Amino acid sequence: MSTQINKIAVFTSGGDAPGMNACVRATVRTCINYGINVAGITGGYDGMIHDRIFPMEASSVANIIQYGGTVLKSARSEEFRTTEGRKQAFDNLQKHGIDALVAIGGNGTYTGALKFQEEFNIPVIGCPGTIDNDLSGTDYTIGYDTATNTAVDAIDKIRDTADAHNRVFFVEVMGRHSGHIALNAALAGGAEGVFIPEKNGEFHSILDYHKNKTREKQFSIFVVAEGEEDGRAYELAKKFQNHFPEADTRVTVLGHIQRGGKPSANDRILASRLGAHAVKGLVDGKSGYAVGVINNEIVFTPFKEAIYGEKSINENLWILNGILTRS
Ligand code: F6P
Repeated sequence: MSTQINKIAVFTSGGDAPGMNACVRATVRTCINYGINVAGITGGYDGMIHDRIFPMEASSVANIIQYGGTVLKSARSEEFRTTEGRKQAFDNLQKHGIDALVAIGGNGTYTGALKFQEEFNIPVIGCPGTIDNDLSGTDYTIGYDTATNTAVDAIDKIRDTADAHNRVFFVEVMGRHSGHIALNAALAGGAEGVFIPEKNGEFHSILDYHKNKTREKQFSIFVVAEGEEDGRAYELAKKFQNHFPEADTRVTVLGHIQRGGKPSANDRILASRLGAHAVKGLVDGKSGYAVGVINNEIVFTPFKEAIYGEKSINENLWILNGILTRS
């Protein structure tokens, strides 16, 4: 079913992710291609509440595809969690004649979008923008590929110095509730162990590994997905040091470096496809869905499923990493 949409607004929300700009660009230019007016909202849901809404045209998104961050800024809005905040946001959208939204972000963004469209019956399509790759309904989220490459690049560099000094490194990467970056960066970086929220027992494995090491290689790299607080790698390194007082142990926390930088070609392509299909979805009368790519095909998944559905790690990669680094 096709719905008459005259003006779409696009915004980015939650943790920024490399490729968000490419997604904004695709959204804006696809709207123009359909003859639909388009607006940008600065600072996510906060911008909606405080009326930071402005018209966009093709030139507004020129020369941004290659940049990380987001030209629309981002925020995690507390005010939008309140009924008054959401009402204010809706009033502002009406004032600007906006009749549909493209929301680019992660779990929190989708949760807000779901509530908003249920309360005010405004069509919304979400594009998965988060480095964590923790959303169902898509094989990959925008920014995940770039962040993983950043982590691998850092691990390669740490490997040089770890090797030179025969040291044991605990490298902490992002992903509080999801081990996608950690597992994939560990595999690509040849790390000897990886700590992710989806798996227990890794500490005992690395103790065994270190105790029974038969190869000449003296250094080790263990990748750690951050815990509830930054710095989980410090705890693990300390525990490890208690077991092996002679080990020369160091910690590197990669932190927000993983959120920045030039988006990879994969992220730009993914983001462009998703932004364009979000607009197409709205034009086709869809609402309350997240757009994604599964097996290279565009799919639309209801917000609830995208938020609460399981996005498990690839078990085969987990097993493979163990085999390749510990045999
Ligand atoms: O969701 C993306 C993410 O980078 C997580 O990996 C990390 O746990 C969190 O955001 C950090 O959030 P903030 O930038 O608000 O500290």
